[in-house]
Amino acid sequence: MQDDALASPLALHSRPPSRTRADWLIPAALIALGAIPTLAGIGRLAGLARGVATMEGHARFAADPLPAVLHIVGATTFCVIGALQFSPGLRRNRPRWHRRAGWVLASSGIVAALSGMWMAIVYPAAAVDGPLLRGMRLFVGAAMVAFIFLGVLALRRRDFHAHGRWLTRSYALGIAAGTQALVLIPQALLLDRSETEHGYALSMGAGWIVNVVVAELALRRRRQRAPLETTSLMRAVVHDRYGGPEVLRIEHVPRPKPAAGQVLVFVQAASVNARDYRLLRANPFLVRLYNGLFRPRRSMLGADVAGIVVEIGAGITRLAIGDEIFGEALFADRQGTFAEYVCIREQAIAEKPQSISFIEAAAVPLAGITALQAVRDRAKVRPGQSVLVQGAGGGVGMFLVQIAKAYGAHVTAVCGPGSVELVRSLGADRVLDYTRDDLLFIDQRYDAIFGVNGFRPLGYYRERLMPTGTYVMVGGTNRQLFEALLFGKARFAAGERKIEVLTIDESLRAKDLEEIRGLLVDGRLRVVVDRAFSLEAAAEAFRYAEGGHVRGKVVLTVGEVEACSLALAC
Ligand SMILES: NC(=O)c1ccc[n+]([C@@H]2O[C@H](COP(=O)([O-])OP(=O)(O)OC[C@H]3O[C@@H](n4cnc5c(N)ncnc54)[C@H](OP(=O)(O)O)[C@@H]3O)[C@@H](O)[C@H]2O)c1
Repeated sequence: MQDDALASPLALHSRPPSRTRADWLIPAALIALGAIPTLAGIGRLAGLARGVATMEGHARFAADPLPAVLHIVGATTFCVIGALQFSPGLRRNRPRWHRRAGWVLASSGIVAALSGMWMAIVYPAAAVDGPLLRGMRLFVGAAMVAFIFLGVLALRRRDFHAHGRWLTRSYALGIAAGTQALVLIPQALLLDRSETEHGYALSMGAGWIVNVVVAELALRRRRQRAPLETTSLMRAVVHDRYGGPEVLRIEHVPRPKPAAGQVLVFVQAASVNARDYRLLRANPFLVRLYNGLFRPRRSMLGADVAGIVVEIGAGITRLAIGDEIFGEALFADRQGTFAEYVCIREQAIAEKPQSISFIEAAAVPLAGITALQAVRDRAKVRPGQSVLVQGAGGGVGMFLVQIAKAYGAHVTAVCGPGSVELVRSLGADRVLDYTRDDLLFIDQRYDAIFGVNGFRPLGYYRERLMPTGTYVMVGGTNRQLFEALLFGKARFAAGERKIEVLTIDESLRAKDLEEIRGLLVDGRLRVVVDRAFSLEAAAEAFRYAEGGHVRGKVVLTVGEVEACSLALAC
């Protein structure tokens, strides 16, 4: 059962505004809160650089400036970058910035915390500093470091909510210098700086406590609102009319619920196939017969996916929450993988090999299954046979070359000049550049020919087949497709030559994915990803893929894990 709301254009109007007041108000308020200690720190740095006493206690720092300098630089960076991380719009619209800034934030936070502890130990106590305050400083510094580490650990185990919570807590401690200034300045003005050691320590402590309490209240509020913000809606690429990539846009749509036999997948990456831009453009026109005459009934695109199982429907036996998978959303389910979540049938999923990334895994399902069925079931390639792959540099082509090799064939691959080296590295025995070479081999005959996009007239392929050879039409122009379906048999009848117009046999999907997984695991199948785009850049990805000269596959990255795991690996 599918969630009809997903396909409904009405669902598209639930989009929250792309920019809200919170996007600038929260960072602005936090930067303002940190302004006093930041300016004081900058003044102190300037004083240290010029050897001028700018503040009380200058002599303590001037004798050994390193911890003070590290602390000021670390704390200032932490306060400013951290404030920007709280902007919902920045997090949502610039995920790459959020991730990169996150690493700067964590590093600067650790520097600020450790240097603060260092200062508490090495510098002689100021007039109102006592052992209580020193102990508090050491405790807060250690807590800040611990919170940052817990945040990074949560990121590694992909618990993004816990990640946000721990970093919020560490930020609350880090920016307490601002709150402390707000507590201490009125006190100093009103009480004429006559406070005792304990009084000063309590005022400082109040700054930390206020920040921690405010942070916990904000986190609680966020948790209470979570069902609306993080459970029921998700980002997705949608289109409510047929056309080019310009009709694609990002919307917030209802997050689907897995029906019996389905799992909900947290999408990490999804690849673009010719099927997607054909559905988008309703090309061939026949698309309109099953997807809506005037408007697309199904507003979401995307078949291939790699991600993490986050919820399971009734009757699921093979998969569990947390499994890393790759697979294909079936058209019949009216689901699209260019979204944060997608429901997929268990039989259209296989476990993602550990050896490949989510981005690579997402490039595999449709193109891999197409190539496998073309080689194994349509051409029935046997060891020692000679095959020709026309269009070897693209998504399906790269799998055709490698799977034909895995089935023992001698492979001749035809591709453009830019893909020659790549295709050779995939194991092709002979690589021909279609801009100059392929007509040179006019006399060569093949047991099987795979025409990825037609490229040449059917007669060209028929002439190059052995008397018992098979031409597998994987793709082609609309005209070629009708010609092949209507007259193909007759035109290839000489000898025992055959023409096969490839349509995927859905019943084999589970078995095929397992076979492909085996080839990936033992290294006989390599995945080539030409370019990866963010979900927001889906239109650009479509334009690039439609250009027709992709080397390997084009992939959209969706979830955080892939990018985070890349960042962690760096
Ligand atoms: N029947 C099915 O069930 C099924 C399933 C999936 C896909 N398909 C079809 O398979 C086709 C290919 O998909 P794809 O994802 O591999 O497309 P693609 O990624 O766009 O690949 C096409 C490749 O062909 C190369 N090329 C362009 N002109 C050529 C020429 N004259 N001779 C040889 N190579 C040429 C291109 O690059 P260079 O020019 O740089 O070499 C490109 O690498 C599509 O038509 C799709 O509809 C069919």
